[in-house]
Amino acid sequence: MLKKIIIFDTTLRDGEQAPGASLTGREKLEVALGLVRLGVDVIEAGFPISSPGDFNSVRMIAQQVKGVVICGLARSLNKDIEAAAAALKPAKRKRIHVFLATSKIHMRYKLKKAESEILKIAEAAVKYAREFSDDIQFSPEDASRTEPDFLFRVVETVIKAGATTVNIPDTVGYAQPEEFGSLIKAICNTVPNIHKAVIAVHCHNDLGLAVANSLAAVRNGAGQVECTINGIGERAGNAALEEIVLSLRTRKGYFKGILTSINTKEIYKISRLVSKLTGFVVAPNKAIVGGNAFRHESGIHQDGVLKKRRTYEIISPEDVGFYGEGLVLGKHSGRHALSERLKQLGFVLNNDQLEQAFSRFKELADKKKEIFEEDLLSIVEEQMKGLPQVWSLAGLEFCGGTSVKPRATIKLKNKDKTYTASSSGDGPVDAGYKAIEKITKIKAKLLDYSLQAVTSGKDALGEVSIKLEIKNKEVPGRAASTDIVEASVKAYLNAINRVLFQAEKSPAIRL
Ligand code: KIV
Ligand code: ZN
Repeated sequence: MLKKIIIFDTTLRDGEQAPGASLTGREKLEVALGLVRLGVDVIEAGFPISSPGDFNSVRMIAQQVKGVVICGLARSLNKDIEAAAAALKPAKRKRIHVFLATSKIHMRYKLKKAESEILKIAEAAVKYAREFSDDIQFSPEDASRTEPDFLFRVVETVIKAGATTVNIPDTVGYAQPEEFGSLIKAICNTVPNIHKAVIAVHCHNDLGLAVANSLAAVRNGAGQVECTINGIGERAGNAALEEIVLSLRTRKGYFKGILTSINTKEIYKISRLVSKLTGFVVAPNKAIVGGNAFRHESGIHQDGVLKKRRTYEIISPEDVGFYGEGLVLGKHSGRHALSERLKQLGFVLNNDQLEQAFSRFKELADKKKEIFEEDLLSIVEEQMKGLPQVWSLAGLEFCGGTSVKPRATIKLKNKDKTYTASSSGDGPVDAGYKAIEKITKIKAKLLDYSLQAVTSGKDALGEVSIKLEIKNKEVPGRAASTDIVEASVKAYLNAINRVLFQAEKSPAIRL
């Protein structure tokens, strides 16, 4: 039998409580609209009494966000409930979420109240909230550390008072999965009117168990899970929405037909949005949305994935909206991955060529953490014994002296056509470079220039090495000649031909 779990997203309330995560009203609205596209059932938009800013953003979301239940948090105080009701007023479907601590430690030290008083306050708060909405959620804060018998009485009381959802928070992330699952089962089996309300869970991640505890609760009767995007929230955070949803989806059999209404293809996008707006970087190894979650570097894994993706991938990256490159080329990669990537770049190498390219690749990978497209292109350039000569030097004249401004005339060939341009400059090399720029129309900045004699004697061969900046990319160029101006001009053309070759081979490099 299929059962739908309600996904209650609290990124904008508990998530935003994370130190340093504060969002503006506009940013909250942007996240809320993303959550609607994601398909969550309830958005907890904020805690309206906590500040005018929070009130206004809950109100703006209540006005503008359609198709989901909008929820506002309130302590068990009339002024909080009134503020939540006022902020939520424009929403078509609204929920007031009332909470009150029920554990011994909270009642004694924080609230300084006895059990009987807590029961009365909770009951009155729920009844008062019902005057503003039919959809009322009650949370006995620190439920997992509350005496079970007292917790059962609280739950029964608030349902009788009109709560339609009772949320069992593991406020300090103290519970263990089996224990938490048993608590939910005990609530289902013990509270006589439990069938009149949905049981929700809200787990914190202090021991890294928020998702495990939430899933254990689902297996034992919880009908709603509270969670946040990327797991952000107070202290170590809340249960991560993406992890819960993907566990339920990936292990359908284990969870016996439990579904959610989440459109998983939206997950990656909203994860990036929340990360960008809060400034909380997602760790590369974070499950589902981390940058490395779908990337394979080891040769054995890459070979397996290329043969059959499911060997090392239990989730398809596209299913969560991740379209990045899955195979990372680095020192652990093998021939199979290298030849596949080269094929994608348009190079089909025979076995000998591949062997040579692979050994160059390994040498480079020992020096660099990751091998990018440009690196592969330069390996292939070497393989091809030289770059295709888009522009080649057909003639060069220059004049200068102590009393004449240096001037160069350059003749270049491209396919069957010859182009000529002249320019003056600070020296013959500078004048030559300016003339080349006139012909090729490629804007370049000279970052580095060095000249070295590679043979000895008066007719020594001079090798010029330069570095140009073209479209924010550094491109090297090298050439040798007995004439140093000619070597300089040819080195410049070598850099330009390299960048043209790379632009043709890689769509990422555009001129
Ligand atoms: O962690 C908690 O107990 C809460 C409640 C307000 C539900 O955030
Ligand atoms: Zn919380």
